Amino acid sequence: MARKEIRFGVIGCGLMGREFASAAARWLHLLNLEFEPKIVAVCDANPAAMDWFKDNVPSVTTASTDYRTLLNDRNIDAIYCAVPHNLHQELYVDIVNSGKHLLGEKPFGIDIKANDAINAAIAANPDVVVRCSSEFPFYPGAYRIGQWMREGKFGRIIDAEAGFWHSSDLDPRKQINWKRMVASNGEYGCMGDLGLHVLHMPLRFGWKPKNVRGILGKIVTERPDRNGKMVPCETWDNAVLACEVSAENYSFPFLASMKRIAPGHGNTWFIKISGTKLSAEFTTRNPKRVAYMPYAPGDEQAWRVLDVSYASAYTTITGGIFEFGFSDSIVQMWAAFCDELVNGDKMKQPFGCATPEEAAATHRLFTAALESQRTSQTVILD
Ligand SMILES: NC(=O)c1ccc[n+]([C@@H]2O[C@H](COP(=O)([O-])OP(=O)(O)OC[C@H]3O[C@@H](n4cnc5c(N)ncnc54)[C@H](O)[C@@H]3O)[C@@H](O)[C@H]2O)c1
Repeated sequence: MARKEIRFGVIGCGLMGREFASAAARWLHLLNLEFEPKIVAVCDANPAAMDWFKDNVPSVTTASTDYRTLLNDRNIDAIYCAVPHNLHQELYVDIVNSGKHLLGEKPFGIDIKANDAINAAIAANPDVVVRCSSEFPFYPGAYRIGQWMREGKFGRIIDAEAGFWHSSDLDPRKQINWKRMVASNGEYGCMGDLGLHVLHMPLRFGWKPKNVRGILGKIVTERPDRNGKMVPCETWDNAVLACEVSAENYSFPFLASMKRIAPGHGNTWFIKISGTKLSAEFTTRNPKRVAYMPYAPGDEQAWRVLDVSYASAYTTITGGIFEFGFSDSIVQMWAAFCDELVNGDKMKQPFGCATPEEAAATHRLFTAALESQRTSQTVILD
């Protein structure tokens, strides 16, 4: 089958830029898709960051330190932009105004003002498809929970919890980087880094935070720079947000946590939902497993544990008995973005990448959480 090529430019050739290149190179993994991404151009302010692309991605014909070169190139259909948060506003606005489709990285602006500016550009360019990166919902266990939610299997939600936890910052010797500086990462700290991952599924379920009590922690307050000199580490390490969320005509408690310092956790993303008819839990700590408990009045309350194996949104060559991992979730997310670009609301499966509206909802929540931390009060969201 001849596949429609979507010609991509990558702006920001760091950690996540390379993940996209790897996903595009593994497109043969996916079955029955009539489209594929082709990375034709790259941009990074640091020329050395583009060397890996030049060496490993033969389809790249343009490499530039100025992102405008990519925006002016008529041969490029869409941009993946993965740059530090202080650059999101300028770059995302220019990308959208250039008429290129955009998969942008979270948090979609360093703060709510930047996010508003990005949303204004999106509103002014309704034909441009803009989505925000979020790959964890494509893990088979998480995807299954999303499917159960779409099917209305949970009954009334009793309460829910979701989180994203790391631990390497427990080591005070870890060198400072842009993600630990307010000027480049933003005042949200760990919320801006980890929060959209935590909120994507809950927001997609239609859960609207009505209020939040945010308790934020700065645990390691200084770190060595590259010369070993101790410098301030200004950003919030951990955030626990206790929210009342509304869904349909009732509300329930939802606990969202984003932690850079959760001892022993390496990239643990999880979601737990208790419902009157079904409860379910998934964590990347146990990536092929989903636990669930269906319930009807009078039933014994027995949890079931299922090895859900390799069954995600888009069919692949991988056998169902094999395990799914982070790089597989990235491939699936990219398939969802390209599917939406090509097929619009007739996507091949129902779960799409995070929307600008969902990103905006996270900004309202994180801004309220900062206020809650400052005032030690519960803050009402409208
Ligand atoms: N989806 C995920 O799982 C995930 C994981 C990590 C980071 N991220 C997000 O991805 C984005 C980038 O993070 P990263 O970890 O890849 O960072 P990184 O530091 O590894 O890469 C960022 C790159 O941007 C380049 N850059 C800086 N200024 C630039 C400019 N003006 N023009 C072009 N390039 C420029 C840097 O030189 C660097 O190579 C952030 O928004 C971050 O929150 C997402």
